[in-house]
Amino acid sequence: MKFSFSIITFLLVLKMVANDSFITNLEYAKMLYQNPRGIGCDKCHGRYGEGKIIAKYKQKGKIYYLKSPKINKVSKEDFFKSFSSRHKIMPKYFLTYQEINSLYFYLQQINKKTKNKKRGKK
Ligand code: HEC
Repeated sequence: MKFSFSIITFLLVLKMVANDSFITNLEYAKMLYQNPRGIGCDKCHGRYGEGKIIAKYKQKGKIYYLKSPKINKVSKEDFFKSFSSRHKIMPKYFLTYQEINSLYFYLQQINKKTKNKKRGKK
């Protein structure tokens, strides 16, 4: 009895390893979006890539906002381009083609899923 139980456990583990997918593509992409070897994209662009106010500051009595753009409607081409160009505020990332592709995939999926809740209606 005990023996067959451990055999079954062993086979289950073996199957998981063989499948080579403990997490789905979407789960992986989400992790990457929040932790892309550097500061998370969500910190500046928001959870759904809806864009947000990064900081607010006052200069000579006037209030200014530092905003990030909305990135959930950017074309795939532009999305890729933004990783090879320099930005004023956005840090430089060193991501592979697969990783950038995954980030793009994530933004597409998450915005399909969560219909129009908080995604900046600009
Ligand atoms: C420190 C804040 C910050 C972080 C972190 C950040 N960004 Fe940005 N991002 C910006 C800002 C601000 C811009 C606008 C260009 C500029 O001023 O730097 C921008 C521009 C972009 C653009 C171009 C948008 C367009 O309209 O063409 C894309 C795409 C983008 N970011 C994706 C990402 C992804 C994906 C990540 C995570 C790997 C990320 N950003 C992390 C602040 C940030």
